[in-house]
Amino acid sequence: MSALTNDLKKLTELAENNVKADGAFREKLHLMPPVGWLNDPNGLCQFNGVYHAFFQYSPFNAQGGVKMWGHYTSDNMIDWEYQGVMLYPDQPFDCSGVYSGSAFIEDGEMYLYYTGNVKLEDRDDYDYINTGREANTVLVTSRDGKHFSRKKELMRNTDYPADLTLHVRDPKVWKQDGTYYMIQGARTKSDVGQALIFRSEDRLNWEICSRVETEEPFGYMWECPDYFEVDGVKILSASVQGLTGEEWADRNVYQSGYFRLNGDITGEYDLSDYCLWDYGFDYYAPQSFETGDGRRIQIAWMGMPDCEEYTNRTLEEGWQHCFTFPREVYVENGVVRQRPVRELDAKKQKIKDASGHLEDEGHPVYEAYISGIADGQFRAVLGEELTLEYKDGRFSMRFSDQSKESVSAGRNVRYADMPELENVRILTDVSSVEVFVNDGEYVFTTRYYPAEASVRVDAPGAEIELAAI
Ligand code: FRU
Repeated sequence: MSALTNDLKKLTELAENNVKADGAFREKLHLMPPVGWLNDPNGLCQFNGVYHAFFQYSPFNAQGGVKMWGHYTSDNMIDWEYQGVMLYPDQPFDCSGVYSGSAFIEDGEMYLYYTGNVKLEDRDDYDYINTGREANTVLVTSRDGKHFSRKKELMRNTDYPADLTLHVRDPKVWKQDGTYYMIQGARTKSDVGQALIFRSEDRLNWEICSRVETEEPFGYMWECPDYFEVDGVKILSASVQGLTGEEWADRNVYQSGYFRLNGDITGEYDLSDYCLWDYGFDYYAPQSFETGDGRRIQIAWMGMPDCEEYTNRTLEEGWQHCFTFPREVYVENGVVRQRPVRELDAKKQKIKDASGHLEDEGHPVYEAYISGIADGQFRAVLGEELTLEYKDGRFSMRFSDQSKESVSAGRNVRYADMPELENVRILTDVSSVEVFVNDGEYVFTTRYYPAEASVRVDAPGAEIELAAI
């Protein structure tokens, strides 16, 4: 281990040992950083029966700093055991951050592909878009999920198409008909967001084979692209920067969503309209993987980059952000849907059932399921400040107070229009809420900071089930 790696390791452990483990806003079910900052999920996989989740981690700065990969493992995707930092920014090709990437499993080996970020010295003539940075594609392997090989640099900016800016990142790898493919996000010199597809015969030597974009430019940068097929539907997911005006005007600063792809992603294809994965405040950079039993699981960062409108009161406790609860992505009646992983069922303890109206206090972590909603009549108030409501064909999530010290920490309202409301599943944790509407056709995710746990549901004629977790 180099002197730099050694010091980074010691400093990380020091920071982790100093954290207040009993912070009032720490989550029970959701993966959080031990201390400091977390963003994207990385390297998600099930390897030799164990789930692995790596995360973008800045232990020294809860507002974000140099990124490394923290590592958790789990047997059920709910109880996560922290394994320490697996990848430090300790090489010339990743010295400004071990950026996002993914895991590919084959023949008992875990292949982790990531972006080595390099920001060159501060100079006035660098814009850090076309000059002053590097985005290197790097590989690390492991046979046991505990010990990792040396890092191997596979590609650098000169290996990517010449009309791109230096913003190329977030590799995700899959295998199709005996060939390996890698997707990466990119920004062209004319500010168009794209996904690049590379191919390889040996997982080491890669060449560009196609570039995916929409007919009309769609944002200036696509981050964390993902490509998979679920229940016969091909999905291209991308976290898009630069969507403004019209339908994007009262939404988040950046978007995470997907296109349905018809045809061949490496050849001729059409893309559907872009659909949001989530309509709430805190959702970005989702990544998916397939479990041994064939489920497509997606986990996102429950946070939002470059967001000035609202904040997180966990900063008072020295940490910020968590992952979303793992979701199964599936297609039913032609609609792409999401639901919490079924492992959650084993954790539920029934509190009560009611018809039309229910109130409860004192359970911060619960699932409320409201079904058989009649004539769209639905309203729920959580923690006295967060109202979920359906009115005139619009489902909304609204906080009553927008001050940064309140339950919302600055959040206001998010909504989606839908012709009917049939059912709502609310999953809360100590400081987060995820709402699955109409069997997960729409999802709303947010952080929140209630003083006391409480829930009140009004839905005349509907069945309401409440379970503590
Ligand atoms: C998305 C992202 C990625 C990048 C990583 C850096 O949130 O910007 O594109 O690899 O975060 O932390």
